[in-house]
Amino acid sequence: MAMTVVRPAAYEVVRRLDLSDVSFLVEVRDPDVARAARAGQFVMVMSHAGGERIPLTIADFDRERGTITLVIQAVGKTTREMQRELRVGASLHALAGPMGEPSRTEGVRKVVCVGGGLGVAPTYPVARAFKQSGAYVIGVIGFRSKDLVFWEDEFRAVCDELIVCSDDGSVGIKGLVTEGIAQAISRHADIDELIAIGPPVMMRGCAELTRPHGIRTVVSLNPIMVDGTGMCGGCRVRVGGRMRFACVDGPEFDAHEVDFDDLMSRLRRFRPEEKLALDRWEQGCRIAAPADVPSG
Ligand SMILES: Cc1cc2nc3c(=O)[nH]c(=O)nc-3n(C[C@H](O)[C@H](O)[C@H](O)COP(=O)(O)OP(=O)(O)OC[C@H]3O[C@@H](n4cnc5c(N)ncnc54)[C@H](O)[C@@H]3O)c2cc1C
Ligand code: FES
Repeated sequence: MAMTVVRPAAYEVVRRLDLSDVSFLVEVRDPDVARAARAGQFVMVMSHAGGERIPLTIADFDRERGTITLVIQAVGKTTREMQRELRVGASLHALAGPMGEPSRTEGVRKVVCVGGGLGVAPTYPVARAFKQSGAYVIGVIGFRSKDLVFWEDEFRAVCDELIVCSDDGSVGIKGLVTEGIAQAISRHADIDELIAIGPPVMMRGCAELTRPHGIRTVVSLNPIMVDGTGMCGGCRVRVGGRMRFACVDGPEFDAHEVDFDDLMSRLRRFRPEEKLALDRWEQGCRIAAPADVPSG
């Protein structure tokens, strides 16, 4: 009798955790990507056949389980759709990667790893990689308030020191991550490098803070990406006066060379289209939902 081999579905969601009303974590089965993934890399994902391809950072990978972890903020149509559909047992339609250049950790003796908001997730594997390469790691993680804190324990496990910041002072020190960085710099005169991942305005603030101290500073840029393979030019960023493609030349770049104004204006370019797509999707959801008609 022929034996039936039951293969686990490709890109199946094996774990889901809601971190807040607008952010969630999914652990997805993909042994090949899990085997090849390195800190700092990302994947291109399609949640269903007619969906948009979007880039998401590999926030963690487990080679034994053959899984990668994605932490997603539901900001528009595609990510809202994923928040609704990606439950345990569901599968992504397509996943390609790992993409981008891995973080460079060699030769750094003391590093500050800064994550702001959702940027805490992609900073985690970078901090871990620095720790594994023998660096002294100072973590600085920032949230708007205590209820949005996630992965504090994970960070503590890979950092020699951890500074938690919150905008409203409900946890850690009151202030932006730049407050935490200033503390770290005042305590350590021998910081070799700082890496910051978060909203562009935060990354620019970090770059301006470290510039007078001459601390090499790296940021992971998040321009709009279409193919993720260097073909479309959609992810052009201006760095050191030159055009670079974030998907293949980055996503990490020297923060002191990045033109953040150009990045932010490019990110705003498709706002009307993005709003229209979200409105149409929400309207479709309302029509599809059965009306709550009282009986009798
Ligand atoms: C290298 C990289 C890694 C990223 N990692 C993560 C991550 O780990 N978690 C996460 O939540 N988000 C991540 N993002 C951002 C994420 O891709 C966008 O939030 C997502 O594409 C928004 O799609 P949407 O349809 O939900 O929202 P939309 O309403 O279409 O867009 C909302 C905003 O997201 C940005 N955006 C839209 N389309 C894209 C696109 N194709 N590529 C990049 N940005 C886009 C724009 O700034 C836009 O204004 C990453 C982006 C890059 C470039
Ligand atoms: S996403 Fe197309 S060139 Fe980078």
